[in-house]
Amino acid sequence: MYPQVICHVMGSVDGRLLTERWTEPFDGKSKGDLTGVYAAIGRRLNTDAWMFGKRTLCEGYFPGIFHAQDSTPLAHPSPYVAPGSSERRFVAVDPDANILYESSTVRGDSIVVILPETAPAVYLEYLRKRGISHLFAGARGDDLRTAMRTLAETFGVRSLSLQGGGIIDGAFLQEGLIDELSLVVYPGIDGSADSTSIFHCIGRRDPTQGQSLELLSAQTMEYGVVWLRYKFHKNS
Ligand SMILES: NC(=O)c1ccc[n+]([C@@H]2O[C@H](COP(=O)([O-])OP(=O)(O)OC[C@H]3O[C@@H](n4cnc5c(N)ncnc54)[C@H](OP(=O)(O)O)[C@@H]3O)[C@@H](O)[C@H]2O)c1
Repeated sequence: MYPQVICHVMGSVDGRLLTERWTEPFDGKSKGDLTGVYAAIGRRLNTDAWMFGKRTLCEGYFPGIFHAQDSTPLAHPSPYVAPGSSERRFVAVDPDANILYESSTVRGDSIVVILPETAPAVYLEYLRKRGISHLFAGARGDDLRTAMRTLAETFGVRSLSLQGGGIIDGAFLQEGLIDELSLVVYPGIDGSADSTSIFHCIGRRDPTQGQSLELLSAQTMEYGVVWLRYKFHKNS
């Protein structure tokens, strides 16, 4: 059993992700007005959990690093469900097991961290003391299929919105774990060939793995923003 995964992302018309590189709105509106439309749609998706990639989370919320004095892992790591967690969860993915948390919540939602089985025992103890739930995704912490299964079976998460960045979106795409794409198109251009795209797959020749998209709806929102919803068909 896996949660239904909706990849919710805002891209420029050339499919790029980094808002600071996009052209300005033509009519003097701020970019924040337009990205606010993306945030409001995200709330409307009403999923049990939502999630960022590590870089997005650390840039926006938790830039500090935990330095483990002792790197010894647990012999048999198992998921930990912190008591008193909120109904809606925020999922963090941390293959290096070293994010320093200033809070056990993101925007009021209790954090669940996806970790490698090799995470130091002292780090797991730190997370428990902070009231932060965690689960394991293989030896390198990148086995997203196992992580999603545990999220569904141990944490009861039936739906999740994956909210970027492009590298984690690309990793979910490669694994065939995305059920729906909620693409919010910003009326502007990036234009750089080397800019991160909304699915930024690294080191794989065929990242889409025979998947296809079916358009479910297309809606014009405020400020010329367009909201496109697609269903993923997994053919292979
Ligand atoms: N426009 C939007 O809607 C939107 C949304 C979100 C973020 N953003 C922007 O996007 C930027 C960050 O995006 P990004 O693509 O550079 O980074 P990201 O997706 O947030 O995070 C990248 C991290 O994911 C890790 N990773 C790769 N494969 C993984 C796997 N299978 N399992 C677990 N972790 C895995 C990478 O680890 P390794 O380093 O070990 O490879 C890397 O640390 C920020 O500037 C943010 O503001 C824009």
